[in-house]
Amino acid sequence: MVNKITVVGAGNVGATAAQRIAEKELARTVVLVDIQEGIPQGKALDQWQSAPIEGFDSRVIGTNGYDETKDSDIIVITAGIARKPGMSRDDLLNTNAGIVKQVSEQIKSTSPNAILIVVSNPLDVMSYVAMKVTGFPRERVLGMAGVLDTARYRAFLAEALDVSVRDIQAMVLGGHGDTMVPLISYTSVSGIPITQLLSKEKLDAIVDRTRTGGAEIVKFLKTGSAYYAPSAAAVQMCEAIVHDQRRILPCAAWLTGEYGMNGLFLGVPCKLGRRGLEQIIEVELTNGEREALTKSADAVREPMAAVKL
Ligand code: NAI
Ligand code: 2OP
Repeated sequence: MVNKITVVGAGNVGATAAQRIAEKELARTVVLVDIQEGIPQGKALDQWQSAPIEGFDSRVIGTNGYDETKDSDIIVITAGIARKPGMSRDDLLNTNAGIVKQVSEQIKSTSPNAILIVVSNPLDVMSYVAMKVTGFPRERVLGMAGVLDTARYRAFLAEALDVSVRDIQAMVLGGHGDTMVPLISYTSVSGIPITQLLSKEKLDAIVDRTRTGGAEIVKFLKTGSAYYAPSAAAVQMCEAIVHDQRRILPCAAWLTGEYGMNGLFLGVPCKLGRRGLEQIIEVELTNGEREALTKSADAVREPMAAVKL
C-alpha cells in the first residue's frame, strides 16, 4: 500500500477507478478531484461508506482543489470530456488538452514526485501534454490504453474459442485509435499459437472488432464511453506500480529510439514497477506488424503536432 493515490476527474472512469483502488487497498488515502462542486465529495463519501461492507480501510475523500492531493504517490488523470456517437477520440483534442494542461500544472506544484497514469483522450497526445507541462521524466508518465485494448482482444478471443479469458496471452501495441496493432504473432492460448486455433478470417474479424471496441460501446451508451474495463485497466497499472510487480503490460510510453522511433507516446510493452516505467521491452515484429506500428505512430504524430500548449 502507498500513502496516497489521487484520481482527477470524478466522472465514469475516475469514480469507478477510485472505488477499485480503495477496494484493493492500494493506498491509505484515495483522493477524488473534480471541478464540479459536490460531485467528488458526494461520490467519495458514498464509496467510503461501502468500506464496512466491502471490508477495506482505504479512506476515500473528494475535493475541488489540490491541497488534499499534496504529495500523492500516483495520480490517475481522467479529467476531460468523453466521446459521443460519431466523435473520434481526436475530436476531443483541444478541449481535453486545455483540461489536462490545467490539471498537470496543479500536479507539478503539489505532487512533484508522483507517477502519472493518463487516461484522458486522445490518449497518446494527452500523455504528451502531461509530460510536457509537468516536466516529469518519462519513467513517471504513462498512458493507459494497451491494457484496455488487449483486454478487449482477449475477451473476444476467449468468446470465439469458448475458453477462459485467463488462458489468452496477447498484446495490442500502437496508438489508442483505429490504427492500434494487435500482435497476432504474440497471441497464444496457454502457449498454443492462436493461428493453430482460429482461421485467418475469424482472427481478422476479431482484430477489426478490437480496433473499434470503444466505438461499439459508445454506440450503445449514446451519452458517453466505456468505463468499467477502462477503470480496471488503469487500476491494474496502479497495482503493478504499488506492489512493484514488474509486470509487462502494454502502455503508452515516451519513445527515445525504441522500435526505431523518437519523440512520441506510443503503446509498447512496458515493465512496470515501483519507479513507474522500469523498462521498455523491444520485441521482434513481422514486417506487417512493423509497418502497422509505423502507420499508427503517424496517426499519433498528426494530432500531437496540432495540439496547442
Ligand atoms: P466523464 O465525462 O464521465 O468524466 C469526466 C470528468 O472530468 C467530469 O466529471 C468532469 O467534470 C471532469 N473534469 C473536466 N474538467 C476537469 C478539470 N479541469 N479538473 C478536474 N476534473 C475535470 O468521462 P469519462 O467517461 O470518465 O472519461 C474521461 C476521459 O477518459 C475521456 O477523455 C475519455 O475519452 C477517456 N477515456 C480513455 C480511455 C483510454 O483507454 N485511454 C478509456 C475510456 C475513457
Ligand atoms: C475507449 O476505448 C473511449 O478510449 C475509450 O473505450
